Amino acid sequence: MEEELEELKRGLELSKLVVVTGLRRYGKTSLILTALNELKADYVFMDCRLLLFGMLSISDIAFLLERGLSQKSWFRVIAESIEGIEVRVLGIRFRRRDFNTLVNVLERLEGKVLVLDEAQELRRCRCRFDALIAYLYDHIPVRIVVSGSHVGTLYRFLRVDDPSAPLYGRPFYKVELKPLSRERAREFLVKGFEQEGDEPPGKLIEEALDLFDGVIGWLTYFGYAYTKLKIRELGTVLDMAAKLAYQELNHALQVTGVGKPRYAAILKILAERGATSWSEIQRFIEAKLGKIPKNTLNHMLKNLINMGMIKKTAEGYMITDPVLAYAVKEYL
Ligand SMILES: Nc1ncnc2c1ncn2[C@@H]1O[C@H](COP(=O)(O)OP(=O)(O)O)[C@@H](O)[C@H]1O
Ligand SMILES: [Mg+2]
Repeated sequence: MEEELEELKRGLELSKLVVVTGLRRYGKTSLILTALNELKADYVFMDCRLLLFGMLSISDIAFLLERGLSQKSWFRVIAESIEGIEVRVLGIRFRRRDFNTLVNVLERLEGKVLVLDEAQELRRCRCRFDALIAYLYDHIPVRIVVSGSHVGTLYRFLRVDDPSAPLYGRPFYKVELKPLSRERAREFLVKGFEQEGDEPPGKLIEEALDLFDGVIGWLTYFGYAYTKLKIRELGTVLDMAAKLAYQELNHALQVTGVGKPRYAAILKILAERGATSWSEIQRFIEAKLGKIPKNTLNHMLKNLINMGMIKKTAEGYMITDPVLAYAVKEYL
């Protein structure tokens, strides 16, 4: 991903805010960490995937920041002078995980990079985190990298196009990750097998390319299963991958609450039929679960698109990730 890496590095040089998007396992986190290491930048990484479901409090956010800063030697140096921070032998601790401490720390990140990985999760925060990002953007010389797998949801959280939103009008740099092309995916796998000292299994690699659609995380998973776990059956790898995808799906569907059976039904028909038209989806859901108003179905489809789970194509709606499609067919 040399091009994407150069682009991200350029973004970090040109802009205070960089947004990295791409679906799950497209390589966002790896790319961000690689770029920051190559730039030898001091950064703090907030892994927003650790925020479980439900509304978030300041204390949850402060916990992420505390965790991200804990192992950072550059922070120990400034921590002494920040009110409310206790420096310990192993890491640092916030005396209170409250708004003041959070802001006190964020304000001291001058010259550093703040990474908000999977930032769409922050939309559930009671504290209007978008306003806090805008405040840092305007007043503190800190660079901010925001990433998100649920691309539509991320942009709805950032609201960069909404004149009434805190981040409106702030220039930012966009890096969009796509799946690897078939050629690059093949090259990636062959190189990986060679590095592991294994003869690249040509035929199996072609089958894996059919199955995993250029998603670098799944390709890596396949290579790992083959070289480290000595698994030679692609079906076995697919089953293992699908279990992971299924867990994540369940997590994502938690937020849909009582709507869950309907969301599940939409995914089910898309998994079984591939590309499906709006009216077919409606017919299927109504046959299974009773009447569904047009607006409700539209809203649900839009949510699934915002989460990156499905996409709309000329042929109809489809599940984006082939592994997820398999998981839905088998387990949902
Ligand atoms: N450029 C890369 N080179 C080698 N492996 C990669 C690369 N990008 C991603 N991977 C592998 O794919 C997996 C998923 O990537 P990750 O960065 O976690 O994706 P995302 O953050 O987009 O969900 C990683 O654990 C890593 O093993
Ligand atoms: Mg990630």
